[in-house]
Amino acid sequence: MRLGLLTGGGDVPGLNAVIRAVVKRGEGDHGHTVIGFRNGWRGLAEGDVIELGRKNIRNVLPLGGTLLGTARYHPHSNDGGIDEVLTTLEAERIDGLIVVGGDGTLSAAQKIAEQGVKLIAIPKTIDNDVWGTDRSIGFDTAVMIATEAIDRIHTTAESHNRVMLVEVMGRTAGWIATMAGIAGGAEIVLAPERPFDIDQIIKFLKHRHRSHASFSIIVVAEGAVPAAGTNMQYETQTGRFGEIVAGSISERLRVIIEEATGFETRVTVLGHIQRGGTPTAFDRILGSRFGVAATDSISRGETGLMTALVGDDIKMIPLSEVAGKVKHVPPELLDVASALA
Ligand code: F6P
Repeated sequence: MRLGLLTGGGDVPGLNAVIRAVVKRGEGDHGHTVIGFRNGWRGLAEGDVIELGRKNIRNVLPLGGTLLGTARYHPHSNDGGIDEVLTTLEAERIDGLIVVGGDGTLSAAQKIAEQGVKLIAIPKTIDNDVWGTDRSIGFDTAVMIATEAIDRIHTTAESHNRVMLVEVMGRTAGWIATMAGIAGGAEIVLAPERPFDIDQIIKFLKHRHRSHASFSIIVVAEGAVPAAGTNMQYETQTGRFGEIVAGSISERLRVIIEEATGFETRVTVLGHIQRGGTPTAFDRILGSRFGVAATDSISRGETGLMTALVGDDIKMIPLSEVAGKVKHVPPELLDVASALA
């Protein structure tokens, strides 16, 4: 079998573990030839290919990023993109395709599978918002990085008696903010799932600083928004691909909080640091398990499925049920984050 492989959308730590697993399982156990497409769907549309073998995957487990490269390119949003993809798949005689991506890449995967291409998907995104899987590759590493950052912010916040806003990624789901906020002991977590009331935040900070503390840490998901009808007007600022303009919500909050409380307030935007560097053991293991499961699934002749972590098990679920949905942070976790203020 000639097995195609691509990584699309924003990179995450743990992608190289997937590539390694697909090559080892595909070539070693199933006797497949593994063809990598560079830079996500764009490479597939443009015919940018590389045959992957053992030499390409040596020592890649601890490396962040993706050795195949990636891009924010969706064939169905570009004129003739789907036809270009189908042409390359035919020219390269690809019998099956493994696609690793987040919501955008997976929606494209569903469209390509509908064209009759044998395809299996693997979820990755530090946002952890892919529906149907308990975890997506990259999330665990991002939470670890954000938690360490909050720990470091703690000491400087306390020394200077400041309010510190720590902005993390998470456009429509506040998974990183909630989990890192709990792990790092933040006083307030602002997640898109629970729009905030700025007056309540100001009241809380004034009371806390008057009664027992001289500093506070607020973890802000980049997609956090004020609740309708409350005392703050804010429209989320986005770029070309729907990515949120880093720091915009936090900077607005900084000005409002400083003015209303008189407390010195600072912003730290973690940005792409959350997506860079060495993957945790968890993400290496998850990437390896997903890679093996996807390779076995496509080798059995299956198609239109996505690997998912459900509890401790890896399951194959229909891709059609995943595309277009968002997995939000459940209220229980949001409650824990606010209960520990
Ligand atoms: O989709 C993952 C994500 O990390 C989002 O949380 C973030 O808004 C976006 O990617 C940033 O995209 P880019 O790398 O294109 O700036």
